[in-house]
Amino acid sequence: MQRKTPAPLSVWRPLNLDRFLLGAPHYPEHVDESCWRRDAERMAAAGVNTVRMGEFAWHIFEPHEGKFEFGLFDRAIEVLGSAGIDTIMCTPTATPPRWLTINYPEVLRVDVNGRPASHGSRQHADTTSPVFRAHSRRITRAMAEHYRSNPRVIGWQTDNELNTTVSESFAPATRLEFQKFLQHKYGAIDALNFAWGGHFWATAYDDFSQVDLPRPLMPSYPSPGHVQDYHRFLAAATAAFQHDQVEILRAANQDWFVFHNLGQLADIDFRGQFGQDLDFIGFDIYPMLYDEMRRTGGHAATQALHLDICRAYSGNYIVPEQASGFGSQPGFSTMTPEPGEMRRMAMTSVSRGADGIMFFRWRPAHFGAEIYWMGIIDHDDVPRRRYDEASRFFHEIAAIKDQILGTVVRMDVGIAGADFDNQEAHKTYPMGLPSPLEDATFLHRHCYKQGIACGFIHPEDDLSRLKALYVPHWVMWKQEWNAAIEAFVRNGGTLILSALTGTRDENNHIVREQAPGHGLAALSGVKVTEFGRLVPEGSAGLFPLFRQAAMGAYVPPAPLPASSAERKYQFTFGNRQFEAAHLYELLEVEPDTEVLGTWSNRFCAGQPAITSRQLGKGRIVYVGTYLTQQLAEAVAETALARAGVVPLLAELPAGVEVSMREAEDRKLLFIQNTMDISVVVPGMPSGMDLLTGQFVGSIMQLEGYGCAVILLDPDR
Ligand code: GAL
Repeated sequence: MQRKTPAPLSVWRPLNLDRFLLGAPHYPEHVDESCWRRDAERMAAAGVNTVRMGEFAWHIFEPHEGKFEFGLFDRAIEVLGSAGIDTIMCTPTATPPRWLTINYPEVLRVDVNGRPASHGSRQHADTTSPVFRAHSRRITRAMAEHYRSNPRVIGWQTDNELNTTVSESFAPATRLEFQKFLQHKYGAIDALNFAWGGHFWATAYDDFSQVDLPRPLMPSYPSPGHVQDYHRFLAAATAAFQHDQVEILRAANQDWFVFHNLGQLADIDFRGQFGQDLDFIGFDIYPMLYDEMRRTGGHAATQALHLDICRAYSGNYIVPEQASGFGSQPGFSTMTPEPGEMRRMAMTSVSRGADGIMFFRWRPAHFGAEIYWMGIIDHDDVPRRRYDEASRFFHEIAAIKDQILGTVVRMDVGIAGADFDNQEAHKTYPMGLPSPLEDATFLHRHCYKQGIACGFIHPEDDLSRLKALYVPHWVMWKQEWNAAIEAFVRNGGTLILSALTGTRDENNHIVREQAPGHGLAALSGVKVTEFGRLVPEGSAGLFPLFRQAAMGAYVPPAPLPASSAERKYQFTFGNRQFEAAHLYELLEVEPDTEVLGTWSNRFCAGQPAITSRQLGKGRIVYVGTYLTQQLAEAVAETALARAGVVPLLAELPAGVEVSMREAEDRKLLFIQNTMDISVVVPGMPSGMDLLTGQFVGSIMQLEGYGCAVILLDPDR
């Protein structure tokens, strides 16, 4: 396997390996050694080329402090290697062993109420702790030294899903580290007092040593500047924790690739040092789990959304854990992929940028907190339908990998994403409004259903391949991005800005100019004269929200007071009438700016709500409210259509998803049937289905959960 030095982070970046990684996380420490050879043979027969091991085995690598034992994993690596299977090793820092937490109890995370984590699950250690960092370096160094010249160890995963169980800590050591971070950032305490607004509620400090960690609602709200810096600190500490490991691994063997498997995306700034340190990102995909957790409606669309969000950080990625079957921990269980669906979900991951797929997990555990989390093989050691499906998928991908590797996912519509400060800024002061991502999901969902090539992208990335860019309420917009977006628009792009964009600076202070700030008013040709809250359809009103935040517990919704329910604000856009959700803005419009939507009732009647300004060959649309599904569709019909955005397939049937991966010399159209019944796809362009070797054109039939990868004829 060859590894190239990774290119700079970009959504348009392919993987830097010449191998498509195919395999599974594997836990040889969970099964009797007598099974190992048969496991390896079955894996090889299924087409596995790589397994991932070791992420929870610190107690085996270092059973006593300073005493290292590599025998078990050495033998496992060798048995697999003799069947032609390589190993990705993991640093085992998600589970420090009991001797460590007994000898160094100060490494345990502490929750907001001051309670230290107890030993007995995982992610109990605090990655901000200097003592824990020293142990992390020690175990990483010992493992790196041991495996540096083992040809079967081809790469590393750092830790496991950092910050997924919990990202915050309120330990005394965390407080000290936070103070150091602030001292380094601000230099003088007056600068911190200015940034956090020390004259508000007498929150000013005389010295950095007085600063506490921000505890929400103890008893009221801390300053948004304080909260933002705490999360910046957590992200910096997480990056530093990982950087220690990466430095050691890179020094040991420059041919190794190093990645991290992302889980819940908390307090990690992927486009900062964290992502820059890695070869690529790994993204664990459990579509059914995430869909039910967030209730976003439909696990196929949710999976596509998550993959598109993740790709924005650094381009093509691998999936170190792709859901294969029923999954559970003691408190929940997921739906079960039906026959054919495991392959379909894996193909969706590939269609949206995965250049490596590992099904979680080779075998299920018989003990511990995930006994019903199924793997490719069943508990009784019998390979059944999941084995057959994994095997089919691995062989299919192995046969077409040369066509896939080197391609990137097409995007005609970009949604601004992957910006840590803007994500966090919303969280410091949410006001019951949807997050930028929740809002953008309406547009993403529309594009997904229509078969429009849509994804997320950071404004500092190369925008030139997009036709349109939507910015979902980025309050912390940075002036330094304006030159790039202006060039994008002048060259023919459509920029869509939305309410509250550019209203704060990097300290979470409200800007002193008329919104939208940071130069966006001049670009968009609008100025906001007034804004106010609207009660969204189905809202339970303000009081439960407030109580929920204040009491940290769920409070069942109460009916809306009649007075708020009556206050529906409407606007016309095109020739349709819309009901606005969440927020209204009244806009003052420059003479060269066209009004596309107008408030139509109550005191706002007649005032502009949605505008458009021509600039060079493109235009800037300003939407002075929040998206609803209906408004997202209307914005797409007007703004996206005018920007020249057309769906990848002319007549996409419901339940079928489509995306394109392309390189200069080829275009691959991925089509997946997300339903269990067969479907006819009309309006097919001509090309060859690489999975069947058959030529297609005009009409194609896809069986339930069927997939096709069409290499389009070159004239397309
Ligand atoms: C992932 C985690 C795995 C396993 C899996 C199934 O988030 O990385 O270790 O727990 O979920 O729950």
